[in-house]
Amino acid sequence: MNLKNIILEKEGKIALVTLNRPKALNALNSETLQELDIVIEDIEKDSSICAVIITGAGKSFVAGADISEMKDMNVIEGRKFGILGNKVFRRLENLEKPVIAALNGFTLGGGCELAMSCDIRIASTKAKFGQPEVGLGITPGFGGTQRLARLVGMGAAKELIYTAKMIDATEAYRIGLVNKVFEPETLIEEAKALATTIANNAPVAVKLSKVAINKGIQTDIDTALSYESEVFGTCFSTEDQKEGMDAFLNKKSLVGNFKNK
Ligand code: CAA
Repeated sequence: MNLKNIILEKEGKIALVTLNRPKALNALNSETLQELDIVIEDIEKDSSICAVIITGAGKSFVAGADISEMKDMNVIEGRKFGILGNKVFRRLENLEKPVIAALNGFTLGGGCELAMSCDIRIASTKAKFGQPEVGLGITPGFGGTQRLARLVGMGAAKELIYTAKMIDATEAYRIGLVNKVFEPETLIEEAKALATTIANNAPVAVKLSKVAINKGIQTDIDTALSYESEVFGTCFSTEDQKEGMDAFLNKKSLVGNFKNK
């Protein structure tokens, strides 16, 4: 894989994806979005990977979509760029493996939208968040008008988007944009510990939980509960369910040793 702007590392069951364009604060240009798509495809196909961490190199997670690339876009190019970002982030959101965003610094615009496409967000005390788009004459374009309200509620989302103001990690935690906040030097260690905890559980059950949550949140409760019954039933076709329950009844645990089958 020939990547210019992203580093993909694999450590056991965990993939670590680092956005690596630090001179531009990891701003997302088309090339980086296309590379992210390639990285997601690789992780999708790699059955040894059970959890993913996404972070940024340097002082930024991602400072937004690339303003120098967008500056001279016309209507068609702008729409195409928005569609590309939405396509890649949706693929990430639908990736059937848990994804943790480890937010090390500026998490702005397209960066906040990337973080919101992940399953779990943890942040450094130094991280700063916001949707600065309306200050540039555009709307959020990679999912921000849709995912932010779903995550933090309509009022907080509208305030963030309309004011274009940055908030710090404490405020992001208070409104539920991030799950936890850590000192910068421990962020990746904490992300790896969280990823390992998740990866040690039955991968098929984790995957099906993600599918049920993501599908269910978009629909009425009765349809959502029928998805749940469907995936719950599917678990009983796995070796992990048989062996996991057998281990429990024999006063043992399979955590860390599931077969992913
Ligand atoms: N696009 C392109 N380049 C960017 C960038 C971006 N989003 N953010 C930062 N950079 C570049 C800067 O132009 C600068 O480049 P040069 O060294 O060549 O001048 C370099 O990164 C370092 O940035 P600063 O000197 O500005 O660093 P700072 O520490 O003084 O400020 C910052 C940091 C507050 C994050 C500031 O860079 C900033 O406000 N960046 C833009 C944030 C933004 O508006 N993001 C939203 C983009 S629009 C979007 O994302 C649309 C969408 O929804 C799809």
